[in-house]
Amino acid sequence: MNQREVPQVPMPTILVVDDSLSYLGALLDRLEQHGFMVVLAQTAAEGLMRAEFAEPDLILLDVVMPGIDGFEACRRLKAGKATKDIPVIFMTSLTDPKQKVTGFDAGGVDYITKPFQIEEVLARINTHLALRKANRELQNMVVTLAQAREDLVRHEKLAGLGALVAGIAHELNTPIGNSLMAASTFEMQTVDLNQHLSEEGTVKRSAFEHYIRDAQLAVDILTRNLHRAADIVTNFKQVAVDQTSSQRRSFLLAEVVAGNVLTLQPTIKRTPFLIKQDIPAALMMESYPGPLGQVISNLINNAIVHGYDGRDEGVIAVAAQLSPHGWVSLTVEDSGNGIQPADVRRIFDPFFTTKLGVGGSGLGLNIVHNIVTEVLGGTIHVESELGGGTRFTLTLPMLAPDVKKSSADH
Ligand SMILES: Nc1ncnc2c1ncn2[C@@H]1O[C@H](COP(=O)(O)OP(=O)(O)O)[C@@H](O)[C@H]1O
Ligand SMILES: [Mg+2]
Repeated sequence: MNQREVPQVPMPTILVVDDSLSYLGALLDRLEQHGFMVVLAQTAAEGLMRAEFAEPDLILLDVVMPGIDGFEACRRLKAGKATKDIPVIFMTSLTDPKQKVTGFDAGGVDYITKPFQIEEVLARINTHLALRKANRELQNMVVTLAQAREDLVRHEKLAGLGALVAGIAHELNTPIGNSLMAASTFEMQTVDLNQHLSEEGTVKRSAFEHYIRDAQLAVDILTRNLHRAADIVTNFKQVAVDQTSSQRRSFLLAEVVAGNVLTLQPTIKRTPFLIKQDIPAALMMESYPGPLGQVISNLINNAIVHGYDGRDEGVIAVAAQLSPHGWVSLTVEDSGNGIQPADVRRIFDPFFTTKLGVGGSGLGLNIVHNIVTEVLGGTIHVESELGGGTRFTLTLPMLAPDVKKSSADH
């Protein structure tokens, strides 16, 4: 990097507003000596204008001035969009504590009593510049984090959608494959029969009867498999609508769980694990089936990835029952590895994962927790025994609360 490319750290700009020329002159000298850019104003009106254009990092503001006084000037600065965040330090010879309160009320951050030592002025300036810098960094960090969180949630949703598509493809594969096989066999037999007829001018009754039997069989296979495919599409359509819209509707819990389990089939089928569902067929809820499905999928996935990690068999039980007063108790349970007692408190924290670097994001259960408490209006708790398994219990209202705008939106 050559000399000219060295990045310039901009010097902080200080606006000094004071009606006394001798103070202005003294501060100008001393502050410039210490590396600040200094902008001067002799009246509050002038100061307000300069504040707007020079965008100083900090303002030293005299309190007693002819015309607009320092307190009023400060109030106006705090009301201005461009100037409201600039820290204001009052300079005053008034020592009345009441005055100080007025100054803080007006939005000042500190006081310097005249006459002052330059060291004190510098110390206070540096403190407030550092504070402002830290504040800005924090604000930026909050914005970045909110953005990151949004990205991650979107990512999780897309992953869910990907799983859904994979699920549909996987489930449709069998009936469509069967239909194709039946159709092409039928086609071959028809070609054969036709060829025979044109060559020989006739077919034997027995051959024709054979052909009819095969035709009936083919049509039967086709009808059954196409019905099966149509059922699958209908089933997935609802899951897709739920997953993409976060709509509130009435639904049978058993159906929604079954739909979501179906979307997990491609994942499950590659594993030796079984999902057992025990939910009363008539259990009806009015809630948000999309987010609820996301919760159930997450818990089942965790049971496979964490609970049964390293095992070659296992059952994941999803069960529900009606509790008194319109609540539903829904459990997702595995009898796998369990969670370290010290970790149990932390599993709902964002980014807590015991699979760092091997596929874990540590966000699954945090999202689960947020959905259960903020969207579904329920609670979630976990019981786990090391080596004995893990049970998540969701306590959900059959009638979900009206969702807050922000949670319903994304
Ligand atoms: N069924 C389970 N059995 C054992 N441990 C689990 C189970 N579910 C979650 N955990 C633990 O909780 C942690 C956090 O889970 P989660 O938030 O979904 O993040 P991730 O799955 O990305 O690690 C996991 O890393 C794991 O240690
Ligand atoms: Mg997870």
